[in-house]
Formats: sequence, structure tokens, C-alpha cells
Amino acid sequence: MSKVENSEFENVYWIEISGKKYLATKNLAPGISVYGERLVKDNGVEYRLWDPFRSKLAGAINKGLKNMPIKPGTTVLYLGASTGTTVSHVSDIIDTSGLVFGVEVSARVARELMDKVVKYRKNVIPIIEDARHPNKYAQFIFKKTDVLYSDIAQPDATEITLNNGFKFLKKGGYLILIVKARSIDPVLPTSDIIKREAKKLEDAGLKVIEIINLNPYDKEHGFIVALF
Ligand SMILES: C[S@@+](CC[C@H](N)C(=O)[O-])C[C@H]1O[C@@H](n2cnc3c(N)ncnc32)[C@H](O)[C@@H]1O
Repeated sequence: MSKVENSEFENVYWIEISGKKYLATKNLAPGISVYGERLVKDNGVEYRLWDPFRSKLAGAINKGLKNMPIKPGTTVLYLGASTGTTVSHVSDIIDTSGLVFGVEVSARVARELMDKVVKYRKNVIPIIEDARHPNKYAQFIFKKTDVLYSDIAQPDATEITLNNGFKFLKKGGYLILIVKARSIDPVLPTSDIIKREAKKLEDAGLKVIEIINLNPYDKEHGFIVALF
């Protein structure tokens, strides 16, 4: 037996199964599980459980995220789409009126994104390119986006993300930057690295509105939300 409840965010749910609550989204591609997540039916609607240990956005929500700019109808530029674990939940949330451009540099990884996500979801546009060279894919991003979500685990991830932001993000849009501390510095405390990357965003003229340490879901990772 399961019980579905709305969360405080549109198209994001809590499902209680055997006394335990799990985050979930409504499956835009019924019958398809992207990364082995459990599918749950309730009142004729299929939901996908959303694993906070596999998706940093779910980890941030589980840790009490207050600012969630991804909603039905949102246009998202997603850097580091990988095999589509988080992209697929973003696709569920934005629904058919939204759009997610998923940039992924590795063709091997992107193949899985195509097979498991793009094939079944019309609101995901794959871009197999390096986020360091936004000019190479500018032609595909035919409108300014509401949100830029970046999870590329690079030493210069903040700079790459800002370059994409200045090119593709709407004024007043939101930037979500995942900071992987150990990609940036091998020894500095995670909290110092997160603060330093947040300051880079402020120095570039953005307003940082929320910072979450993703521990225990992702150790040594920060989740920063900023207004563009
Ligand atoms: C930590 S994984 C992303 C996981 C994904 N965001 C999720 O939650 O499902 C980082 C991904 O970024 C990709 N990546 C790294 N550098 C990149 C770049 N310069 N441009 C585009 N993708 C990049 C990697 O190939 C990898 O798939």
C-alpha cells in the first residue's frame, strides 16, 4: 500500500510505502525506469521514486531546499546531463510545456541518455558537446532559459557555468551550481570551497540565495542557488 502527498514544490511528491516516505515525480514516460528506480502506481498514475543518493537535486530537496525554480513549463539548460538520472526527473517536473537542453561531453555516456531518456521524452533535447565551448551549441538553444543547472565536476566548473549563464540564461533566471569540492582542491575544507565558489558568483553580479551541503547524500558537494 502506498500513499501519495504533494510536496511544497509543483510536480514533486512524497510517497509513503510501509511507513517510510520517498521523494517521487510523475512518470512522463510510463513503464520506463531510467536508472533502476522503482515505479509506483497510485489511482491510475505512475510515479518514479527519486533517489537522493543518485540525484543531487533530490538530495537538496531532502535537505530542505527552499528555492526550487524548476516547475511545470520551465526551460532548463542542464550542463553535465550524463546518463539522465536527474535530467529525467527534471523532465517529469517541467512536463510537456517545459524543455530541458541536456549538454553532455562524453559520447559514450550520452548514448545511454539517448536510449533511456531522449527516446521516450519529447521535452529533452540532447546536446553532445563540451560546455567549455558554448558557441558550438548556441544554434540549438533557440530561446533564453529560465534555469541553468550545472553538475560537471570540473576544477573550473564555476567559470564554465558563468560563461553559459551570460550566454543563455534570462535576466532574473536561476543558476544552480553543484560544487564538487575535490575536483577543485584536494585539501581545503569542503565548506571553504563552497563559499569561495559562491563568492565567484557574487563577484560576477549574481545574488546567491541558498547554499546546501549535500552530505550525507553526496559527500564533499555543495548545491548553490543564485539569481541571475
Ligand atoms: C557528476 S556527472 C553528472 C550527473 C548528472 N548531473 C545526474 O545527476 O544525473 C558529471 C557529468 O558531466 C559531464 N561533463 C564533464 N565535463 C563536461 C563538460 N565540459 N561539458 C559537458 N559535460 C561535461 C561528465 O561527462 C559527466 O557525465
